[in-house]
Amino acid sequence: MERNLGMDFMRATEAAALSAGRWVGKGDRHAVDHAACEAMRRALNDVDIRGVVVIGEGERDEAPMLFIGEEVGNGKGYDVQIAVDPVEGTNLVANGAPGAISVMAAAITDEGQLLNAPDIYMDKLVVGPAAKGAVDITLPVRMNLKVIAKCLNKEVQDLTVGVLDRPRHEELIKDIRSSGARIRLVSDGDLSLGLEALDPEGEVDVLMGIGGAPEGVLQAASCLCMGGEIQGRLIFRNDAERSRAQSLLGSSDVDRVLTMDDMANGNVLFAATGITGGNLLRGVRYTGWGAVTHSIVMRSRSGTIRTIETHHHFSQDPQY
Ligand code: FBP
Repeated sequence: MERNLGMDFMRATEAAALSAGRWVGKGDRHAVDHAACEAMRRALNDVDIRGVVVIGEGERDEAPMLFIGEEVGNGKGYDVQIAVDPVEGTNLVANGAPGAISVMAAAITDEGQLLNAPDIYMDKLVVGPAAKGAVDITLPVRMNLKVIAKCLNKEVQDLTVGVLDRPRHEELIKDIRSSGARIRLVSDGDLSLGLEALDPEGEVDVLMGIGGAPEGVLQAASCLCMGGEIQGRLIFRNDAERSRAQSLLGSSDVDRVLTMDDMANGNVLFAATGITGGNLLRGVRYTGWGAVTHSIVMRSRSGTIRTIETHHHFSQDPQY
């Protein structure tokens, strides 16, 4: 029987969350990232995989660890492609604000694939299973909202659209408001918003707007596991970003709409752990004996989605 690596990967997001959790509200972005990266990398290097980072902290010369191309794992077991974001919402952690998570995805090489996306922006549209196949990112916002409302069997005015609070979204926010839908604006963390949109029980029905392309790939892995959909368009701020995308994506047209299948396909796993509490995942809670974490771990092949509360006893596991 195929081994489910999901739990091993969840241990890596737990480790990152536990380490980043020590820095909540302390105003030090660098310390948050450093602590989480180090912990995630240590945990990944214990896993029976031959892993290669395809989405990481940046190029080798700009990231000391978990850089793109870095090999992780203990060198035994499956060959896997790894996508990591040890802290999604670094500012949120530094400011003690809700909604930060630690997240990773993996594709079993030859059975699945994650896109080696450039670290630039991506315009995204994320919907849950009910609206899968019904939306089109090239259509006006109003039309997509109408279709999503129909799929969810509710009125447009009862939809909630998740959007990053950025000046670049002024027009988008105007369009959503004029359609009558509600908006959840967040200062950071569009991946968390997208996870809520994928969850039929979530308060957010759809994620719209421009965020990081690497987060888009991680989101695609979550969509594949949860039966939803993402569509994305790379956004280039200059020629250098365009050529970077061309060199990574080969001859393919870098202006086209990227589908979920382009970004994540086949046998894919996804794990995330809350750092600061959000709607989907609770944050790390330290106790007299250790800490409690809340995670989600899922696998596209089986469609299994597990939410797991873990009690970490520091006296028995002194790494924390
Ligand atoms: P980090 O925690 O990696 O900084 O990402 C936070 C985030 O808000 C992402 O959720 C989002 O995709 C991206 O940054 C948006 O980028 P920007 O802050 O440049 O608008």
